[in-house]
Amino acid sequence: MKILGIESSCDETAAAIVENGSILLAQSVASSMDLHAAFGGVVPEIAARSHIEFITPVIKNVFSESGCTWDDIDGIAVTYGAGLSGSLLVGVLSARTLAIIKNKPLYGINHVEGHVYANFLMKPQPTFPLLSLIVSGGHSQLVYFRDHFDYDLLGQTVDDAIGEAFDKVAKIVGLPYPGGPSVAKAALAGNPHAFTFPIAKLDSPYNFSFSGLKTAVLRAAQAAVGADYRLPSFELPERLTEAQKCDLAASFQYIAIKTVVDKTRKAFNELHPTSVVIAGGVAANQELRTQLSAAIPIPINYASIDLCTDNGAMIATLGCIKAMQHAETADPYTLAIAPNLKM
Ligand code: KG4
Ligand code: ZN
Repeated sequence: MKILGIESSCDETAAAIVENGSILLAQSVASSMDLHAAFGGVVPEIAARSHIEFITPVIKNVFSESGCTWDDIDGIAVTYGAGLSGSLLVGVLSARTLAIIKNKPLYGINHVEGHVYANFLMKPQPTFPLLSLIVSGGHSQLVYFRDHFDYDLLGQTVDDAIGEAFDKVAKIVGLPYPGGPSVAKAALAGNPHAFTFPIAKLDSPYNFSFSGLKTAVLRAAQAAVGADYRLPSFELPERLTEAQKCDLAASFQYIAIKTVVDKTRKAFNELHPTSVVIAGGVAANQELRTQLSAAIPIPINYASIDLCTDNGAMIATLGCIKAMQHAETADPYTLAIAPNLKM
């Protein structure tokens, strides 16, 4: 069983071919990240235009790299939500067109659910029941899977996603876009206990909140340069010393990661899953891997870094499992994008 996966929900245009839901035959990712750097965040129109440019090359790449022909492909899986409308449209329309002209079954994939499946490309594979912490630029969720397609959303962010908080904090202290990796890098030279930031207390035991933390970092940065809340944030980068930037990054990262790790530990102790996986762009964060490994008494399943951020392999893997379990196919003439798709 070989599935072509297509992903274009944000700023990565990606394709991959996966066999039997566990073997990655080829993958190709083109990112428009550099084009967004000057704006400090993804510009949807630029991302969409860039997808149009890259979608055919990434699909061609995975065929030439894997040596597969269309005759080898058993189906096409594509992200249809959640994500940016213009970006999703490019992947979905490409997949629909290919499904029609190549006469292949089409599988619509939920991007966030897809992130979890990057872990099924690793050895050992995760087992059910499975607890997954999904942490990306758009999502922060704790999901308990009894089996494939049988899951409960335990909790999620009530405001910003954790990756979004990394990106915003990077902007406040003047670190380059994308914020996650640059905050993580600056944090290596900082003291995680230089600033004491709060963890939001919420009614639901498994929900997260990061917007108060982001404001706390802003106020601490203003105080660190001897100013108060009236100092515009765009003046901070030139007034903060390198040491202050690193301390702010390290202290923020420590608490943001502790927030999600505490909830994951609580869910683990209550539900006793046999596997714990982390998924999404922030799963690339080393502090998260360190804190989580210390908090959970079983080995954690980690995907390789290139499979944590957006990619086609995770989409192809979930598509493969859908195909192997004879899940419902999508209609290639009508599959619509779902920008606000939930788990
Ligand atoms: O999953 P992803 O590629 O796209 C979404 O579906 O959102 O995640 C992107 C997010 C960004 O917010 C980025 O800053 C964050 O993942 N990220 C990281 C790291 N690498 C990427 N955050 C913290 N530490 C990292 N090493
Ligand atoms: Zn993602």
